[in-house]
Amino acid sequence: MNYDSLKGSVSSKPVRQAFSSGGVSRQAFLSGGVSRQAFLSGGVSRQAFLSGGVSRRRILKTGAAFAGAALAAPYVRRAEAARLKVGVLLPNSGVLAFLGTKITQGMELAINQSGGLLGGREVEWIRLDSETDPAKAPERTARLVRRGCDIVVGPVHSGVLLGMLRVLGGTNTTLLIPNAGAGAATGEHCGENIFRTSFSNWQAAWPMGRFLAQRGLRRVTTMSWNYAAGTESVQGFTEGFASLGGEISEGILAPYPAADFHSYMTKLAASDAEAIYAFFSGASAVQFVKQYHEAGLRDRLPLYGVFLTEGTLEAQGVAAEGLETTMHYADDLPFEANRAFRSAYREAYGVDPDVFSVQGYDTGALLVHAAQAVGGDTDDKPAFHAALRSFRGVSSPRGAWHFSRAQNPVQDFYLRRAAGGQNRYIETIAQDVTDPAQGCTLV
Ligand code: BEZ
Repeated sequence: MNYDSLKGSVSSKPVRQAFSSGGVSRQAFLSGGVSRQAFLSGGVSRQAFLSGGVSRRRILKTGAAFAGAALAAPYVRRAEAARLKVGVLLPNSGVLAFLGTKITQGMELAINQSGGLLGGREVEWIRLDSETDPAKAPERTARLVRRGCDIVVGPVHSGVLLGMLRVLGGTNTTLLIPNAGAGAATGEHCGENIFRTSFSNWQAAWPMGRFLAQRGLRRVTTMSWNYAAGTESVQGFTEGFASLGGEISEGILAPYPAADFHSYMTKLAASDAEAIYAFFSGASAVQFVKQYHEAGLRDRLPLYGVFLTEGTLEAQGVAAEGLETTMHYADDLPFEANRAFRSAYREAYGVDPDVFSVQGYDTGALLVHAAQAVGGDTDDKPAFHAALRSFRGVSSPRGAWHFSRAQNPVQDFYLRRAAGGQNRYIETIAQDVTDPAQGCTLV
């Protein structure tokens, strides 16, 4: 990697974005003629939808109806065309809420550092809470499109992403994914309009599998959430580990959003494995790491994982000290771009950034680059999407990365060790890791 080519760019130009609260109430949505009709024609009862009692299959089917209604709605007023409307679907509540905050802060920082405009246009943010609820994702996404957003940023959670894809797949609306790693977005449901600035779940876990096998481990027990992010993470880890002779002793899945892991600790204590691989994030990662430490398992059964210590070190305290994880970022990566980013972030928000902030920052930098390349004309979708594709993350705090043909980052992965409240860089364990993008027609 060429570290010298990485230069930070910090500017203190004023913020010039116009913000919108995204204030369409559920009531207003339900009383709106077009959307309600789509809602009803999607064959899902209002009661079932509101209570969240809708199966994933049903949501996916219904998404198409929302998409049609949203795209047909004549809501975009020409007079507003000067402002670029960017819809944001991130969580404001639940165990992953702080990930949404960090992504938002990172994205705003990058845009503010470029003067607060995108391609010379002011930005109107329309923000909706995903509530990390896959059942609500199609309706929320369609609402953003109906309100005139031709760029949507989100989400954090893979299940929510699958719901969003049902609305945005095969359309011209640009989707920038700043976290959720569901393989389908850059695999079988990839598309010219879909870009991910974070990772695929497989990609984030595969390097750790190879690394542990290279360390000489032969039997590992895996533990994660029982939804796409967890199962795909375990699959990536297993493929990497098995490719160098490792075997999975046992695979344990906990329902999302598990916070109490005590009952699993007894099971883990009985494991015949040499180590544990775990993927949890946010408040669940805090609880998992603390309870693992309290159960006294750390010495006997070393704990490794991904995301486990991102943005959580202060809350985890001594329980996280010394934990080794692998990610596409480390707090003290020796790039000038990283140092400049961290100091600007602290100055702007009074807190330290984490990998989610970096993903948000790169999403903002991507938007700045592409909007500028098309002179603010984001309506010319082939040109705008070509400009997005041409982005090179040479000033990224994580190190240089670029898009694969499936529009997922090709990036390096690092071994880090938690010490004194930081995920400290130890070594680069895999370079230019590319998601296999199975089923993607762009590849
Ligand atoms: C996901 O659902 O894709 C996800 C959630 C938290 C951290 C990483 C991935």
